[in-house]
Amino acid sequence: MTYVDSSVLQGRRNGHIKLHGPEAFAPMRKAGQLTAQALDALVPLVKPGVTTNALDNFIFEFARDHNAYPATLNYRGYRKSSCISINHVVCHGIPDDKPLRDGDILNIDVTLLVDGWHGDASRMYVAGAPSRRAQRLIEVTYECLLRGVAAVKPGAHVGDIGYAIQTYAESERCSVVRDFCGHGLGRLFHDEPNILHAGKRGDGALLKPGMFFTIEPMINLGGAAVKVLSDGWTAVTRDRSLSAQFEHTVAVTETGVEVFTLSPGGLDRPPLFS
Ligand code: MF3
Ligand code: CO
Ligand code: CO
Repeated sequence: MTYVDSSVLQGRRNGHIKLHGPEAFAPMRKAGQLTAQALDALVPLVKPGVTTNALDNFIFEFARDHNAYPATLNYRGYRKSSCISINHVVCHGIPDDKPLRDGDILNIDVTLLVDGWHGDASRMYVAGAPSRRAQRLIEVTYECLLRGVAAVKPGAHVGDIGYAIQTYAESERCSVVRDFCGHGLGRLFHDEPNILHAGKRGDGALLKPGMFFTIEPMINLGGAAVKVLSDGWTAVTRDRSLSAQFEHTVAVTETGVEVFTLSPGGLDRPPLFS
Protein backbone atom coordinates (compact mmCIF):
# COMPACT_ATOMS: atom_id res chain seq x y z
CA MET A 1 0.00 0.00 0.00
CA THR A 2 1.02 3.52 -0.47
CA TYR A 3 1.44 6.17 2.20
CA VAL A 4 -1.57 8.44 2.29
CA ASP A 5 0.57 11.44 1.44
CA SER A 6 2.87 9.81 -1.11
CA SER A 7 1.19 11.42 -4.09
CA VAL A 8 1.70 14.81 -2.48
CA LEU A 9 5.38 14.07 -1.92
CA GLN A 10 5.74 13.14 -5.56
CA GLY A 11 3.89 16.23 -6.70
CA ARG A 12 1.38 14.29 -8.71
CA ARG A 13 -1.76 15.07 -6.80
CA ASN A 14 -3.30 16.92 -9.71
CA GLY A 15 -6.58 15.07 -9.69
CA HIS A 16 -5.78 13.10 -12.79
CA ILE A 17 -6.95 9.51 -12.60
CA LYS A 18 -6.11 7.40 -15.66
CA LEU A 19 -9.01 5.89 -17.59
CA HIS A 20 -7.70 2.76 -19.27
CA GLY A 21 -9.17 1.59 -22.56
CA PRO A 22 -10.54 -1.92 -23.18
CA GLU A 23 -7.12 -3.05 -24.48
CA ALA A 24 -5.61 -2.62 -20.99
CA PHE A 25 -7.89 -5.21 -19.39
CA ALA A 26 -6.24 -8.31 -20.89
CA PRO A 27 -2.71 -7.51 -19.64
CA MET A 28 -4.10 -6.55 -16.21
CA ARG A 29 -5.96 -9.88 -16.07
CA LYS A 30 -2.70 -11.64 -16.86
CA ALA A 31 -0.74 -9.75 -14.18
CA GLY A 32 -3.52 -10.15 -11.63
CA GLN A 33 -3.91 -13.86 -12.28
CA LEU A 34 -0.19 -14.56 -12.01
CA THR A 35 -0.05 -12.62 -8.73
CA ALA A 36 -3.00 -14.59 -7.35
CA GLN A 37 -1.37 -17.82 -8.56
CA ALA A 38 1.75 -16.95 -6.55
CA LEU A 39 -0.41 -16.37 -3.45
CA ASP A 40 -2.10 -19.73 -4.07
CA ALA A 41 1.26 -21.49 -4.35
CA LEU A 42 2.32 -20.09 -0.97
CA VAL A 43 -0.55 -21.75 0.91
CA PRO A 44 1.10 -25.16 1.46
CA LEU A 45 4.45 -23.53 2.29
CA VAL A 46 3.25 -21.49 5.28
CA LYS A 47 3.75 -23.47 8.48
CA PRO A 48 5.56 -23.24 11.79
CA GLY A 49 9.37 -23.36 11.37
CA VAL A 50 9.43 -21.78 7.90
CA THR A 51 11.26 -18.45 7.64
CA THR A 52 9.74 -15.48 5.89
CA ASN A 53 12.93 -15.26 3.83
CA ALA A 54 12.19 -18.75 2.49
CA LEU A 55 8.70 -17.58 1.47
CA ASP A 56 10.19 -14.45 -0.12
CA ASN A 57 12.74 -16.52 -2.04
CA PHE A 58 9.91 -18.67 -3.34
CA ILE A 59 8.16 -15.54 -4.65
CA PHE A 60 11.37 -14.35 -6.32
CA GLU A 61 11.78 -17.70 -8.07
CA PHE A 62 8.09 -17.91 -8.98
CA ALA A 63 8.34 -14.50 -10.65
CA ARG A 64 11.54 -15.42 -12.48
CA ASP A 65 10.04 -18.71 -13.70
CA HIS A 66 6.99 -16.88 -15.08
CA ASN A 67 8.74 -13.98 -16.81
CA ALA A 68 7.55 -11.56 -14.17
CA TYR A 69 9.35 -9.14 -11.87
CA PRO A 70 8.53 -8.66 -8.17
CA ALA A 71 7.79 -4.94 -8.20
CA THR A 72 8.80 -4.35 -4.57
CA LEU A 73 12.38 -5.48 -5.26
CA ASN A 74 14.52 -2.30 -5.27
CA TYR A 75 11.38 -0.14 -5.03
CA ARG A 76 12.38 3.02 -3.12
CA GLY A 77 15.20 1.09 -1.46
CA TYR A 78 13.09 -1.93 -0.47
CA ARG A 79 15.13 -5.11 -0.97
CA LYS A 80 12.65 -8.01 -0.95
CA SER A 81 10.22 -9.65 -3.37
CA SER A 82 7.28 -9.39 -0.96
CA CYS A 83 6.10 -7.82 2.26
CA ILE A 84 5.31 -10.30 5.03
CA SER A 85 3.57 -8.82 8.06
CA ILE A 86 3.16 -11.03 11.13
CA ASN A 87 0.68 -10.58 14.03
CA HIS A 88 0.89 -6.92 15.19
CA VAL A 89 2.75 -5.85 12.03
CA VAL A 90 0.27 -3.82 9.97
CA CYS A 91 2.12 -3.78 6.65
CA HIS A 92 5.55 -3.59 4.97
CA GLY A 93 7.02 -6.32 7.17
CA ILE A 94 10.47 -7.23 5.80
CA PRO A 95 11.11 -10.96 5.28
CA ASP A 96 13.91 -12.27 7.52
CA ASP A 97 15.41 -15.44 8.98
CA LYS A 98 13.09 -15.84 11.96
CA PRO A 99 10.97 -19.01 11.73
CA LEU A 100 7.19 -18.75 11.93
CA ARG A 101 5.70 -19.92 15.20
CA ASP A 102 2.56 -21.93 15.85
CA GLY A 103 -0.41 -19.56 15.93
CA ASP A 104 1.21 -16.75 13.93
CA ILE A 105 -1.04 -14.95 11.48
CA LEU A 106 0.62 -13.25 8.53
CA ASN A 107 -0.16 -11.18 5.50
CA ILE A 108 1.84 -11.91 2.38
CA ASP A 109 1.70 -9.07 -0.15
CA VAL A 110 2.95 -9.75 -3.67
CA THR A 111 3.13 -7.34 -6.59
CA LEU A 112 4.12 -8.82 -9.94
CA LEU A 113 5.06 -6.77 -12.97
CA VAL A 114 4.03 -8.75 -16.04
CA ASP A 115 4.54 -7.41 -19.59
CA GLY A 116 4.68 -3.91 -18.12
CA TRP A 117 1.49 -4.14 -16.00
CA HIS A 118 1.13 -4.57 -12.22
CA GLY A 119 -0.92 -7.08 -10.27
CA ASP A 120 -0.96 -6.34 -6.54
CA ALA A 121 -2.64 -8.62 -4.00
CA SER A 122 -2.29 -9.91 -0.48
CA ARG A 123 -3.97 -12.42 1.76
CA MET A 124 -3.76 -13.65 5.32
CA TYR A 125 -2.10 -16.97 6.08
CA VAL A 126 -1.88 -18.87 9.34
CA ALA A 127 0.95 -20.97 10.74
CA GLY A 128 -0.59 -23.84 12.64
CA ALA A 129 -3.61 -22.98 14.76
CA PRO A 130 -4.27 -19.29 15.51
CA SER A 131 -6.31 -18.01 18.44
CA ARG A 132 -10.06 -17.49 18.00
CA ARG A 133 -9.66 -13.72 18.19
CA ALA A 134 -7.03 -13.89 15.44
CA GLN A 135 -9.41 -15.98 13.33
CA ARG A 136 -12.22 -13.51 13.93
CA LEU A 137 -9.99 -10.57 12.90
CA ILE A 138 -9.05 -12.37 9.69
CA GLU A 139 -12.70 -13.05 8.86
CA VAL A 140 -13.74 -9.46 9.61
CA THR A 141 -10.90 -8.12 7.44
CA TYR A 142 -11.81 -10.35 4.50
CA GLU A 143 -15.42 -9.20 4.76
CA CYS A 144 -14.14 -5.60 4.76
CA LEU A 145 -12.36 -6.26 1.45
CA LEU A 146 -15.50 -7.84 -0.05
CA ARG A 147 -17.67 -4.91 1.06
CA GLY A 148 -15.15 -2.43 -0.33
CA VAL A 149 -15.11 -4.26 -3.68
CA ALA A 150 -18.92 -4.39 -3.72
CA ALA A 151 -19.05 -0.59 -3.43
CA VAL A 152 -17.21 -0.17 -6.75
CA LYS A 153 -19.30 0.79 -9.78
CA PRO A 154 -19.46 3.70 -12.21
CA GLY A 155 -21.15 6.67 -10.55
CA ALA A 156 -20.07 5.68 -7.04
CA HIS A 157 -17.37 7.70 -5.26
CA VAL A 158 -14.04 6.70 -3.75
CA GLY A 159 -15.49 7.58 -0.33
CA ASP A 160 -18.20 4.93 -0.72
CA ILE A 161 -15.49 2.26 -0.56
CA GLY A 162 -14.08 3.59 2.71
CA TYR A 163 -17.57 4.04 4.12
CA ALA A 164 -18.47 0.41 3.39
CA ILE A 165 -15.27 -0.85 5.02
CA GLN A 166 -15.30 1.45 8.04
CA THR A 167 -18.93 0.91 9.00
CA TYR A 168 -18.54 -2.86 8.91
CA ALA A 169 -15.15 -2.93 10.73
CA GLU A 170 -16.39 -0.67 13.50
CA SER A 171 -19.64 -2.64 13.86
CA GLU A 172 -17.34 -5.58 14.66
CA ARG A 173 -15.43 -3.49 17.28
CA CYS A 174 -12.34 -3.37 15.05
CA SER A 175 -10.50 -0.27 13.80
CA VAL A 176 -9.38 0.83 10.34
CA VAL A 177 -5.77 1.93 9.79
CA ARG A 178 -5.68 5.44 8.31
CA ASP A 179 -1.94 5.82 7.60
CA PHE A 180 -1.85 3.64 4.46
CA CYS A 181 -4.30 3.29 1.63
CA GLY A 182 -5.06 1.58 -1.64
CA HIS A 183 -3.84 3.14 -4.86
CA GLY A 184 -4.32 3.43 -8.57
CA LEU A 185 -2.03 1.17 -10.59
CA GLY A 186 -1.48 -0.15 -14.08
CA ARG A 187 1.80 0.54 -15.81
CA LEU A 188 2.70 2.39 -12.61
CA PHE A 189 2.85 0.61 -9.22
CA HIS A 190 1.43 3.49 -7.18
CA ASP A 191 -0.70 6.04 -8.98
CA GLU A 192 -3.74 8.16 -8.31
CA PRO A 193 -6.26 7.82 -6.77
CA ASN A 194 -5.60 7.08 -3.12
CA ILE A 195 -8.22 4.63 -1.89
CA LEU A 196 -8.88 5.41 1.76
CA HIS A 197 -10.35 2.55 3.77
CA ALA A 198 -12.43 4.84 5.96
CA GLY A 199 -14.64 7.62 4.68
CA LYS A 200 -17.96 9.19 3.95
CA ARG A 201 -20.47 8.25 1.26
CA GLY A 202 -20.25 10.56 -1.74
CA ASP A 203 -16.79 11.91 -0.83
CA GLY A 204 -13.82 11.88 -3.18
CA ALA A 205 -13.44 11.17 -6.87
CA LEU A 206 -16.23 9.82 -9.03
CA LEU A 207 -15.55 6.25 -10.20
CA LYS A 208 -15.52 5.78 -13.97
CA PRO A 209 -15.05 2.75 -16.24
CA GLY A 210 -11.37 2.07 -16.93
CA MET A 211 -10.07 3.11 -13.50
CA PHE A 212 -7.72 0.50 -12.01
CA PHE A 213 -6.88 0.51 -8.30
CA THR A 214 -6.27 -1.63 -5.25
CA ILE A 215 -8.44 -2.04 -2.18
CA GLU A 216 -6.33 -3.24 0.74
CA PRO A 217 -7.87 -2.58 4.16
CA MET A 218 -5.69 -2.98 7.24
CA ILE A 219 -7.89 -3.75 10.25
CA ASN A 220 -6.80 -3.86 13.91
CA LEU A 221 -8.32 -5.61 16.92
CA GLY A 222 -7.26 -2.62 19.05
CA GLY A 223 -6.71 1.02 18.17
CA ALA A 224 -6.03 2.37 14.68
CA ALA A 225 -2.71 4.03 15.54
CA VAL A 226 0.45 2.71 13.90
CA LYS A 227 4.15 3.51 14.05
CA VAL A 228 6.98 2.70 11.65
CA LEU A 229 10.00 0.93 13.15
CA SER A 230 13.58 2.18 12.80
CA ASP A 231 14.13 0.02 9.68
CA GLY A 232 12.02 2.64 7.91
CA TRP A 233 9.44 0.13 6.63
CA THR A 234 7.86 -2.13 9.23
CA ALA A 235 4.57 -0.60 10.39
CA VAL A 236 3.16 -1.95 13.67
CA THR A 237 0.12 -1.23 15.80
CA ARG A 238 1.04 1.21 18.59
CA ASP A 239 -0.88 -0.85 21.13
CA ARG A 240 0.64 -4.10 19.77
CA SER A 241 -2.84 -5.44 18.96
CA LEU A 242 -3.22 -7.88 16.08
CA SER A 243 -3.65 -6.50 12.58
CA ALA A 244 -4.85 -8.14 9.36
CA GLN A 245 -5.07 -7.17 5.69
CA PHE A 246 -6.36 -8.45 2.37
CA GLU A 247 -5.76 -6.79 -1.02
CA HIS A 248 -7.23 -7.12 -4.49
CA THR A 249 -6.53 -5.24 -7.72
CA VAL A 250 -9.80 -4.18 -9.35
CA ALA A 251 -11.17 -2.28 -12.33
CA VAL A 252 -14.26 -0.16 -12.63
CA THR A 253 -16.24 -1.59 -15.57
CA GLU A 254 -19.24 -0.24 -17.50
CA THR A 255 -21.55 -2.20 -15.21
CA GLY A 256 -19.66 -2.57 -11.92
CA VAL A 257 -16.35 -4.06 -10.92
CA GLU A 258 -13.87 -6.66 -12.18
CA VAL A 259 -11.45 -8.25 -9.71
CA PHE A 260 -8.17 -9.01 -11.48
CA THR A 261 -6.57 -10.93 -8.59
CA LEU A 262 -9.18 -13.61 -7.85
CA SER A 263 -7.56 -16.89 -6.82
CA PRO A 264 -7.35 -19.39 -9.70
CA GLY A 265 -7.43 -22.13 -7.05
CA GLY A 266 -10.46 -20.79 -5.18
CA LEU A 267 -8.28 -19.83 -2.20
CA ASP A 268 -9.45 -16.23 -1.71
CA ARG A 269 -11.33 -17.02 1.51
CA PRO A 270 -9.22 -16.85 4.62
CA PRO A 271 -7.78 -20.03 6.09
CA LEU A 272 -8.36 -20.92 9.74
CA PHE A 273 -5.74 -23.65 10.16
CA SER A 274 -2.69 -24.80 8.25
N1 MF3 B 1 2.53 -4.18 -2.22
C1 MF3 B 1 2.41 -3.00 -1.40
C2 MF3 B 1 1.11 -2.37 -1.77
O1 MF3 B 1 0.11 -3.02 -1.63
C3 MF3 B 1 3.52 -2.04 -1.58
C4 MF3 B 1 4.76 -2.46 -0.94
S1 MF3 B 1 5.96 -1.28 -1.29
C5 MF3 B 1 7.32 -1.89 -0.52
O2 MF3 B 1 1.01 -1.29 -2.27
F1 MF3 B 1 8.29 -1.18 -0.91
F2 MF3 B 1 7.11 -1.86 0.76
F3 MF3 B 1 7.49 -3.15 -0.86
CO1 CO C 1 -1.18 -2.18 -3.06
CO1 CO D 1 0.28 -4.99 -2.15
